[in-house]
Amino acid sequence: MENYKLPNHRAEQKRTRQPENILRDRFSMPAEALHLGKGRKYCIHTFGCQANVRDSETMAGILEKMEFAETDNDAEADVVIFNTCAIRKAAEDHVLGQIGEFKSLKKEYPEKIIALCGCMAQEDETVDRIIRTYPQVDLVFGTHNINVLPSFLVRMYKDHRRIVEVESIEGEVIEDLPVSRSSSSKGFVNIMYGCNKFCTYCIVPYTRGVERSRMPEEILKEIHKMMDEGRKEVILLGQNVNAYGKDLGMEDGFAELLESIAETGIPRIRFYTSHPRDYSASVIDVMHRYSNIMRSLHLPVQSGSNEVLKRMGRGYTVEQYKELFDALKRSIPDITFTTDLIVGFPSETDEQFQMTLDLVDYCQFDLAYTFIYSPRQKTPAAAMKDDVSMEVKNERLQELNRRITRYAKLNNEAFMHKTVKVLCEGPSKKNPDVLCGYSEENKLVNFTGSGVNEGDIVPVYIDTVRSFSLDGHVQTD
Ligand code: 5AD
Ligand code: SF4
Repeated sequence: MENYKLPNHRAEQKRTRQPENILRDRFSMPAEALHLGKGRKYCIHTFGCQANVRDSETMAGILEKMEFAETDNDAEADVVIFNTCAIRKAAEDHVLGQIGEFKSLKKEYPEKIIALCGCMAQEDETVDRIIRTYPQVDLVFGTHNINVLPSFLVRMYKDHRRIVEVESIEGEVIEDLPVSRSSSSKGFVNIMYGCNKFCTYCIVPYTRGVERSRMPEEILKEIHKMMDEGRKEVILLGQNVNAYGKDLGMEDGFAELLESIAETGIPRIRFYTSHPRDYSASVIDVMHRYSNIMRSLHLPVQSGSNEVLKRMGRGYTVEQYKELFDALKRSIPDITFTTDLIVGFPSETDEQFQMTLDLVDYCQFDLAYTFIYSPRQKTPAAAMKDDVSMEVKNERLQELNRRITRYAKLNNEAFMHKTVKVLCEGPSKKNPDVLCGYSEENKLVNFTGSGVNEGDIVPVYIDTVRSFSLDGHVQTD
């Protein structure tokens, strides 16, 4: 019937090795798209991880180059984009619920273009469902064809026909993509795309393609531009940043890249996400030597049981994780740690869950993102036998969260009556009379003080401690 290009989950599943050549190209705007947005507005709804936040900033940059103006009002937007997440079922249900509500808006304004992109667009069953039951969605495109957005819109405005175009290629690297950043004090920079780890529970290697690194000079160019714009913090992004450069034939790519970024003199550098398995001693050494690399690390462990880690395909043991954790603490004594933990992985026993609690007691994380395992389409874990009831999984999650909160508060108490350096992000969303920002240790700090602007790094004296934030005032001596 229609000329749809659908995602091919099977093809993604068959990927076993690094392709010889990743297509590298530069973004160019088709001439007929240049003024298409004149007098029109766009609105983007972003779900999920920071990779999606960065992709939305790229789409915003592309649309603004086409002269679209931004709005946060769906009713007045000519183009509404849902940039979606597929990591857990709850994330997908949330998006589908919101799109459902657009049925009447689309009836009222039939000219409105409603687009769905991101990880859900890479799943064949999900796209099939959207085609059949969500006629209000006009445009579906995947994570690999964001750069084609101008051409999609040109076609849509020309013949008003639904477009479903999802590439299931291994992925390319497109440089010179426009960007409209959401913060003026900091910014995300992708250092690599995709993931080759294939943890058995995870959909990301299928939705985001093969691991592929950007060239160091392109990354540095983007960071220098951010510095010229007055930004103080760069957040390096990759599903597994420690694998940076492997596909470029670099021995110790991430350590080399991190050092060259630290040498630029940008005041703050963070990176997400680290995989314990690929963490090299030389990265610890670079972190130790450069004070502009922040003293906070997100190091997902997922479980405290070796048996569960094995079935998850994580490629390390609890002992190896602890060894890495201890080495980082020895080298950078004031470092803070956050992690990700999954409870209720198929057939996780009480004893195995207890081991996760024991690991939390050992590491005393500053914060942890905790999840109940959610089976994902065609991943190996989805076929595993599971005899744990949802009730038990929920109880485990609550017990784990209580433990995490206890350590979060305990760690924060160490900051009482101390001074931390905070990068001001402007007024707090909850209370506009108060400023907010993050300390070098990645603690959320709400504070008072006069004459402080977004982008300033200021000393803040902490006078109140909460479980997930610190309160204080700017120190004036
Ligand atoms: N179910 C639950 N949590 C998951 N994560 C990834 N896939 C799943 C899943 N199928 C969690 C992991 C990962 C984080 C980004 O999301 O903890 O580190
Ligand atoms: Fe998913 Fe594992 Fe890759 Fe992280 S490292 S994105 S959990 S497959």
